[in-house]
Amino acid sequence: MTTAAPRELVIYGGGGHAREAVDLVRALNAVRPTFTLLGHLDDDAARHGTTVGDLPVLGGAAWLAERPAPAPAVFLGLGANAVRRRVADRLHALDVEFATLVHPSAVVAADATLGPGALVAAGAVVSVAVRVGAHAHVNVGATVSHDVALAPFTHVAPGAHLAGNVHVDEGADVGIGAAVIQGRRLGAWSVVGAGAAVVRDVPPNAVAVGVPARVARVRADGWQLA
Ligand SMILES: CC(C)(COP(=O)(O)OP(=O)(O)OC[C@H]1O[C@@H](n2cnc3c(N)ncnc32)[C@H](O)[C@@H]1OP(=O)(O)O)[C@@H](O)C(=O)NCCC(=O)NCCS
Repeated sequence: MTTAAPRELVIYGGGGHAREAVDLVRALNAVRPTFTLLGHLDDDAARHGTTVGDLPVLGGAAWLAERPAPAPAVFLGLGANAVRRRVADRLHALDVEFATLVHPSAVVAADATLGPGALVAAGAVVSVAVRVGAHAHVNVGATVSHDVALAPFTHVAPGAHLAGNVHVDEGADVGIGAAVIQGRRLGAWSVVGAGAAVVRDVPPNAVAVGVPARVARVRADGWQLA
């Protein structure tokens, strides 16, 4: 039996989400050496050469472009869905490989699919036939029931629960501790507030709060790329 060498990895971003990703990678490595963490990348040049915890901030996107082949894998440790989308768009030309991270304490059904850059954090449950799109993040202790589709750049915050057959369109954000009943659709770039109970579809770009959730406002089109 051959054992693959650990893959070099850089984490884009240096905030809380990025540090949680580092912690996840170290938990994975404790089970089986999987990644060699090189450090963080950050668009803020003032941070280049500093450290985040014990890891260096290596540079920005240019660091990746200039790095001799083989390029390290990249994980977008950026909590804001729109920022992940913007950075992914920018890196597209570099043809980078995005790492998919699943914490060893997470439960992911055998027939669930995880796109590049997807994250399933500690204690989360991803059930049967769930599709987790590229750069979609299922945060700590969230549960995602059967047949849910999480489009790219979505986020299910800690402790949120999605019932079966929920569709979460691109960039939508399900707030901490929220619940969504079966079969509902969260429109693109919508936001479900913390603790909300979603019992009706949420339109694109809407912010829905409360129990039951009601639309508080709808952001202007194009918000996500502003
Ligand atoms: C819904 C949310 C996006 C609204 O943010 P915002 O647009 O900045 O709204 P504001 O804080 O200005 O609040 C506007 C009104 O909505 C209310 N409100 C805000 N969030 C609410 C929520 N989750 N549930 C019920 N009402 C809420 C406020 O009390 C305020 O009411 P008022 O006008 O009567 O005083 C935000 O409060 C929220 O819940 N975000 C989720 C955060 C989260 O889950 N983070 C996890 C990170 S891992």
